[in-house]
Amino acid sequence: MPFLRSTPPLGRRLASALFLLCFSLLLAQAQSANIARDNKPGKAGRERVSLTDGWKFSRFVSDPDSLSYHTTLKSWILPSANDFINGTKYKRPSGTPPGSKVKYVQISFDDNAWESVTLPHDWAIKGPFNAPGISGGMGRLPTNGVGWYRRKVTFSEADKGKSVFLDVDGAMSFAAVWLNGNLVGGWPYGYNSFRLDLTPYLKTGSDNLLAIRVENSHENSRWYPGAGIYRNVWLVKTSPTHVGQYGTYITTSDLSDKSATVRLVVDVQNDGTAAQNIEVDTEIREFNAATGQPGPHVVASFKQAKVNVAPGQKQPVSSSTKVASPQLWGPAPEQMPNMYIAITTLSVNSKVVDTYETPFGIRTITIDADKGVFVNGKPVRVYGSCNHHDHGSLGAAFNTRAAERQLEMLQEMGSNSIRTSHNPPAPELLDLADRLGMLVLDEIFDTWTYAKVADDFHTIFHDWSEADLRNFVRRDRNHPSIMAWSYGNELIEQNPNEPGFGQGSVLFRDMLRAEDPTRLSTIAMNYAWPGTPMADAVDIIGLNYQGEGQGLDTNGAFDPFHAAYPRKAIWSSESASALSTRGTYIFPVAAGNNAIVGGADAGGNDTALRVSAYELYAPAWGSSPDKVFEAQDRHGFVAGEFVWTGWDYLGEPTPYDAARSSYFGIIDLAGFKKDRFFLYQARWSPETKGAHLLPHWTWPGREGLVTPVHVFSSGDEAELFVNGKSAGRKTRGQYEYRFRWDDVLYQPGNVSVAVYKGGKEWGRDVKRTVGNAKKLDISADRTTIRGDGYDLSFITVAVVDGNGDIVPEAANAIDFSISGPGEIVSTDNGDPADMTPFPSLTRNAFSGLALAIVRSTKGADGNITVTASSNGLTKANVMIRAN
Ligand code: GAL
Repeated sequence: MPFLRSTPPLGRRLASALFLLCFSLLLAQAQSANIARDNKPGKAGRERVSLTDGWKFSRFVSDPDSLSYHTTLKSWILPSANDFINGTKYKRPSGTPPGSKVKYVQISFDDNAWESVTLPHDWAIKGPFNAPGISGGMGRLPTNGVGWYRRKVTFSEADKGKSVFLDVDGAMSFAAVWLNGNLVGGWPYGYNSFRLDLTPYLKTGSDNLLAIRVENSHENSRWYPGAGIYRNVWLVKTSPTHVGQYGTYITTSDLSDKSATVRLVVDVQNDGTAAQNIEVDTEIREFNAATGQPGPHVVASFKQAKVNVAPGQKQPVSSSTKVASPQLWGPAPEQMPNMYIAITTLSVNSKVVDTYETPFGIRTITIDADKGVFVNGKPVRVYGSCNHHDHGSLGAAFNTRAAERQLEMLQEMGSNSIRTSHNPPAPELLDLADRLGMLVLDEIFDTWTYAKVADDFHTIFHDWSEADLRNFVRRDRNHPSIMAWSYGNELIEQNPNEPGFGQGSVLFRDMLRAEDPTRLSTIAMNYAWPGTPMADAVDIIGLNYQGEGQGLDTNGAFDPFHAAYPRKAIWSSESASALSTRGTYIFPVAAGNNAIVGGADAGGNDTALRVSAYELYAPAWGSSPDKVFEAQDRHGFVAGEFVWTGWDYLGEPTPYDAARSSYFGIIDLAGFKKDRFFLYQARWSPETKGAHLLPHWTWPGREGLVTPVHVFSSGDEAELFVNGKSAGRKTRGQYEYRFRWDDVLYQPGNVSVAVYKGGKEWGRDVKRTVGNAKKLDISADRTTIRGDGYDLSFITVAVVDGNGDIVPEAANAIDFSISGPGEIVSTDNGDPADMTPFPSLTRNAFSGLALAIVRSTKGADGNITVTASSNGLTKANVMIRAN
């Protein structure tokens, strides 16, 4: 929800424009996924080992060891920030680091009784719900407490003399790491990735004990944060002479059909004891992002550079080359997400000591104040959505297939962009965005110095914000999918009545420019106005809801901002916040194209905690999709929108704090499409033929009552039929985004629509009055998965009548069982108020549907059968091959 402290004076607005110049910034860049490939085992000189398996874990509800960050660890962990701030700021205190006597860091401690876990791991997701002291806002799951993770790691004699690093992609939160009882360092912000140097503490030829401690308070987030080591962890072994962390930066320029200039900076690190003469070579090949394989041919190479690096120093080496006939990266579906890979080798006396791979793309981005975003010179309207980091019933534990499914469904809807609200995503999400051709607004902070909840980022802002920001950009800047940086969301520093007014706006913008001069940056503002320091500072004006007339200017803030900043592009960094519960229709239906949830018509006081899916309803600060579309269409200079949200997420269950997950999503938490999906698809993918009619047509007791029928389609004319009799043909006018027949009287039978475009049939839909539930239908999104203990199949079960039609309000209890080399990790149904724990194998259908998520077992090679059964209904099963 928006954070407004007080109302800024209206008179402060700058109304008139000084310049009406069109100004565009041409950004040419080439980007990579270097952290994810940092690097594959087997590359000469470098080994990257996944530390997924073999962990022991225990959660403590109260502090078991007095090692809390704020009271004990802070000064010891702060030096981990030094690589990311200008000049060494923090020194390690003298004396014995804390924790060395704590039993959990000792190799001798017997952890047999602890739980065996595999990373990525989210301890809270299994529930139960209604965890003491955890609000609906945070998802009602037991995220609080201290978590200890322990794992033995063996280094062979061959590892002697190597540099060894621990790369943690994300741990929630205040992570602190010990190796063999020595406190190595840590990183408090749970969404950032970090590296620690294990070299001084490891023993070769014997077992080493790695212990990681994380801690979460009851109130550290406005949404579900997850808990524990919820992303991947890697051991990286290199020669002392190696490419540093995030050690390549690639940009491109001078693009034409014939060639592109590629610039490369390589950070050459010498952790050895003597100066080294190092040869730096890089070749470029095409890159198949789906297989992770470089192509067979070298398409360009950089002239060899020779550098002498003193011991303990890092030296950047810059060079450039040209790629002939470049295959450009661009967003799908209009453009192709072509990728390249730069393969860098460091050699000493012609012997390769390190190999480092940097996937990247060649493309230009222009963000124009009047015309919006252009990629490779072609216009791209931002059809985006904001999304939090969780995967619904799988929780925060990152899973590549779950993330891929989220992006694929957004793309199916016609979406071309995502905003990583409000934090750095898992590195693999950006690899997926590169591969699938999704543009990304990469965002880092939800708060700066002010609290939104008691223990959020503001508690560490002073010490960590610079390190977090620079780390984030260096990690992500080679990804071609990233079109801009966002350095904050709805910051309270927007507000002139707060003492911190505007502070940080220029400072962080300039840090971003220094770390990545090729991209623009923005802040998502919900209560800004022209002439305030934050609006003055940002490169792109990001407006949350203000464009549609919320916040400062009830007439909509697009025009005043455009007039005041004729050189800055504007987009809706957050729009809509529309609310609905899939498959739920509450009467009467609002007459206009936008209504605030609250009355009996929409929900807002519904005892089953539902909001009507006529898709007209929003909280006071939001707007229906229709109202947003109109505001966008009336302001052609606006570059587009990021809808709040693409997917439902855990936490923030507005308007019902008693629930546990959101109502904002276009797609529900289980991955089932709400009606809204088709409203967005009609707008964002207008070439997609079809029609989508709502509500369902099984309303015993509503005979003769007004039951409005709405149709979402990109067609321009539509005729509705009730039991074959025309209820009227309608043409969709300007600023109308749906066909609606609001006075239809319900009678059992069927309601159908025929939609036309340019006089030709464009699509049909029908809803029938269904009979009693008879059987279950089952289907899998993928019937072949990898037998790697990680890949997933998403199984949908529908409760259907004798004709195979879904029984729209069916809530039958479904029992899932499984045989073969796989397990059911979780079940769900998309109901934000369902408090059955996610691992439960019994799940009530909700609006006729239920979901089970199946994961293969490691080493699986065979058939998995999933069976769904329910009292009185014919059961169903589906087979999945895992190999
Ligand atoms: C916005 C906020 C989001 C979310 C949303 C709900 O103001 O930025 O994080 O809370 O409201 O409508």
